[in-house]
Amino acid sequence: MERIFSGIQPTGDLHLGNYLGALRNWVKLQSEYECLYCVVDLHAITVWQEPDELRANTREVTAGLIAAGLNPDTNIIFNQSQVPAHAQLAWIFNCVARLGWLNRMTQFKEKAGKNRENASVGLYAYPNLMAADILAYKATHVPVGEDQKQHLELSRDIAQKFNNDYKVDFFPQPEPLILGPATRVMSLRDGTAKMSKSDPSENSRINMTDGPDAIAKKIRRAKTDPDPLPETPKGLESRPEAANLVGIYAALAGKTPEEVCNEHAGAQFSAFKEALTEVAVEVLGPIGGEMTRLTADPAYLDKILAGGADQARAIADPILAEIYEIVGFLTPA
Ligand code: TRP
Repeated sequence: MERIFSGIQPTGDLHLGNYLGALRNWVKLQSEYECLYCVVDLHAITVWQEPDELRANTREVTAGLIAAGLNPDTNIIFNQSQVPAHAQLAWIFNCVARLGWLNRMTQFKEKAGKNRENASVGLYAYPNLMAADILAYKATHVPVGEDQKQHLELSRDIAQKFNNDYKVDFFPQPEPLILGPATRVMSLRDGTAKMSKSDPSENSRINMTDGPDAIAKKIRRAKTDPDPLPETPKGLESRPEAANLVGIYAALAGKTPEEVCNEHAGAQFSAFKEALTEVAVEVLGPIGGEMTRLTADPAYLDKILAGGADQARAIADPILAEIYEIVGFLTPA
């Protein structure tokens, strides 16, 4: 049985990078697999979160998942903290994973920065929790972006070491699902940096709730170079900003970068930006509207999350019970 698990952090505004890099792919997978999509609030608190903002962001991301096209009746959509198995299995994995493995994680080094001594222990153990997310459901496939590949590798190592240590053939090796081209959306201000909610410049990203005016303004201000569009994507090499805009256009219009270059060859970026604005508004407009509508109904979102958590627990609890048995924990008879 093939089962998908993926997670998204509830840390503020969803943007075009989240949509094209993750959510849109999740929507495509929903008809092919049994899917669990988790708003990872336990992961979020590895760095400080204001409680009221965490609550609001958890609901907003949930609204984003549904607005992007995930059907809450056929997918399991829930927030991590409502399913205790994640934290319970993460503890066991804290005892399976080795310090040496975690020391190699590049994301921890980036996020902790120079002030490593002051990073939370949770930030360090973050990948073990991610392994627990996936393996608590024995998920077989995990859609992840480039930046999470190393963490998924670690999940595979943990699964294998658990199986070896306890001499069982229990956990599957979860496979990465890397989907489609142009999934890496870069900042509109710097074509070499990923589009990110932590970028201080609002103009660096298009948020999923941005209206037509904001979208138009940000695209107009997006950095480019003075050259026109080339005839083929080859002509975009060493032009990161131009390549990014072509990539975004292609992803939004469902075309290849070749087709986009072909159609717009010789055009100035001022004209191309207008075309890009049009397709961005066409795709994001309805999604942003739906997100705003859903966010205004927290009771509905809470009901979706509670129902999703019930379904998630129904899968994870029996698996966790088997794990407890394997590890040698006594449980009520
Ligand atoms: N670490 C992922 C991110 O920051 C989110 C995540 C948590 C996740 N648990 C996961 C992704 C399990 C895939 C599978 O993007």
